[in-house]
Amino acid sequence: EKGTYAHYMLKEIDEQPLVIRNILQKYQDEVNEIQLPNDIRTTFHAADRVYIIAAGTSYHAGLVGKEMMEKVIGKPVEVHIASEFLYNQPLLSRNPLFIFISQSGETADCRGVLVNVKEMGHPSLTITNVPGSTLSREADYMLHTYAGPEIAVASTKAYTAQMAVLAILAMDGAHAAGSDTDFDAIHELSIAANAMEALCDAKDDMEQIARDYLFDTRNAFFIGRSFDYHVVKEGALKLKEISYIQAEGFAGGELKHGTIALIEEGTPVFALSTQENVDLNIRGNLQEVVARGAHPCVVSMEGCHRADDQVVIPRVHPYLTALVAVVPLQLISYYAALHRGCDVDKPRNLAKSVTVE
Ligand code: F6R
Repeated sequence: EKGTYAHYMLKEIDEQPLVIRNILQKYQDEVNEIQLPNDIRTTFHAADRVYIIAAGTSYHAGLVGKEMMEKVIGKPVEVHIASEFLYNQPLLSRNPLFIFISQSGETADCRGVLVNVKEMGHPSLTITNVPGSTLSREADYMLHTYAGPEIAVASTKAYTAQMAVLAILAMDGAHAAGSDTDFDAIHELSIAANAMEALCDAKDDMEQIARDYLFDTRNAFFIGRSFDYHVVKEGALKLKEISYIQAEGFAGGELKHGTIALIEEGTPVFALSTQENVDLNIRGNLQEVVARGAHPCVVSMEGCHRADDQVVIPRVHPYLTALVAVVPLQLISYYAALHRGCDVDKPRNLAKSVTVE
């Protein structure tokens, strides 16, 4: 039940720190170590390449998961939109492992791919919030995201939970491979949970930003680089699906290759900067749009922030910034939709689980 909350979406945003802590508990053994089931470990280790298959927000989680896995384990990972993979299959490696990411476990596009994968005899793992769902039953293995029921159509806590499980999988995969990684997922995820909590406590600020930037705008742009690029895509999706504002997430360096033509006086541009190595680049990109009249809002991380940034997130491990940086974007979308009189939990034309192709 949503209790004192006006909407499930707000409740589910607020639950995120708890969900991450819950995941950590579920995946730790008696000696506080993470050890995934042996069959999953072995299969993961044996794969020469991982293919992540997902749709929508879960696809966005997969994009972040790819970065984490490639950096932590050093194993190549591809991420594919399920409906694209289905009719235009890319070349496969010799020993692929397929990972399906799906909150509902019912997405028909993913199921179509899973059926083909099983026919080809390749191993499959589903990361889902619904054990017992079609994708979890039909795949060889399952990892549970333990986010609890997600009722709002716009996915929030399932997304951060998926990324947390992917971080655990990445660390476990590195240990199984005997590669020395200093990425301690347990420690870093608990720091991230605290940071998420701090942002959930800053709702008034996010509501004000929504009012200042989005109250009567036609469109909005989100820019980021590296990990932040994946998060701005998710931020844009959240905003468009519940507030109906046309929004797009771009790689910071890509705007000047065409999209910058859309920037007018007052166009809101949200820039994310959590990655020190590209902080100067993204700020340069922002300058380019500000020079054309954009109304800039910067969400940065301590360590690469400036005095006049609108939102500064606490410092977390660079691989986990997505879990934290998405929180202000979720809240800003929520308030924008609320102010514009939209039905936050049940946006038009959308269903919670998409069981048709
Ligand atoms: C966006 C959203 C959708 C889903 C997508 C996949 O907020 O909820 O984009 O992420 O339909 O659904 P699952 O994860 O259930 O496969």
